[in-house]
Amino acid sequence: MIEVVKFLPFLLLFLFSCASQHTTPKKRALAYTPCPISQDLRDLARRKKKLIGTAVHSRAFAENTRYRKALEDDWNLATPEYAMKMSFLEPEKEQFDFRESDAIARFAQKQQMVMRGHVLVWHRELPEWAEKESGDAEALRNTLKSYITTVVGHYRSEFPGLLRYWDVVNEAVDDTASLRRDSLWADIGNDYIELAFRWAHEADPAAKLFYNDYGIEEMNPKSDRVYRLVKKLLERGVPIHGVGFQMHLGEGLKHDFASMEKNLERFRKLRLRVHITELDVRLKVDEGEQPSPAQLKLQADLYARAAGLCLASPTCDVIGVWGLSDAYSYIPDLHDGYGAGHLYDEDMAAKPAYCALKKALTLTSHPR
Ligand code: XIL
Repeated sequence: MIEVVKFLPFLLLFLFSCASQHTTPKKRALAYTPCPISQDLRDLARRKKKLIGTAVHSRAFAENTRYRKALEDDWNLATPEYAMKMSFLEPEKEQFDFRESDAIARFAQKQQMVMRGHVLVWHRELPEWAEKESGDAEALRNTLKSYITTVVGHYRSEFPGLLRYWDVVNEAVDDTASLRRDSLWADIGNDYIELAFRWAHEADPAAKLFYNDYGIEEMNPKSDRVYRLVKKLLERGVPIHGVGFQMHLGEGLKHDFASMEKNLERFRKLRLRVHITELDVRLKVDEGEQPSPAQLKLQADLYARAAGLCLASPTCDVIGVWGLSDAYSYIPDLHDGYGAGHLYDEDMAAKPAYCALKKALTLTSHPR
């Protein structure tokens, strides 16, 4: 009897672990090695004179305390992931709704973060009423001017100095390296890009204004087109201060970091800043499936190398990731067969990429 009592705790533990194995879902979260670097990302970044930014998902921010804690812990630049898109800010003509984006702004202010406004001119996430103005150059011109003036003006007066950067124009060059024809705003005429920058500058002369795009990280026809576009804007005296490399990387895609370095350098020569604005590394996983350790390592390496690119260049002063957690990811919706692209997994556990990013921020030289 005494023997049984002695072994009772072990017996219970055994029974419990059998039971819990039984009830645990098949695809369990992996246990990751804890990161030995205890400093915050933002402290590490500050020492390198960089800002470290993340997109903020309004719903996650409102409902998930672990997500919110992760935001508070590490970041000093916040970009609303969707709350500052036109369909959210001006859902009905001349009726602005700043509630969601103001909530993020109040939070950022309290946390002593700065913000990037995203995005003033984009061909997606438009309200229906604006789409109806398609083809009417004058109406669209008035709509865009009023939108930019109101939105930038609102943040300038309500949160002075907080919106340090604006993505003024997003993805205006298409995948064939031509100016996008399928954008509603192209109906204004080719000068809509120039006008947008001028209106944004008038509304907040202190803000730094960016052209932002994907697939322009390397030397390629699309980045050539963007280079020519921004060069021409500069020659015409348009207030543009930088270019955002979105940096959506992924497994099975080819990434040439030497080419990225060369590309960054040509924008530097134009005296433009380059920011990494939307870094993520998508993996080939089916829905609900966990990435393998090898996939997580590949992801960690790519996060570190992307950060290294920015760290190696004084022209690049922002490293920004797009989304924090796989639980709130846009990736599976946009890229078939891909997912798990962010620093935290579905349960808000920090993945190896998180530690790799910290490690990259501690290095003095950055291998390509
Ligand atoms: C995505 C957001 O992550 C989603 O939440 C939203 O529904 C659609 O847009 N390039 C951009 C971002 O500039 O604005 C996009 O964000 C991702 C691609």
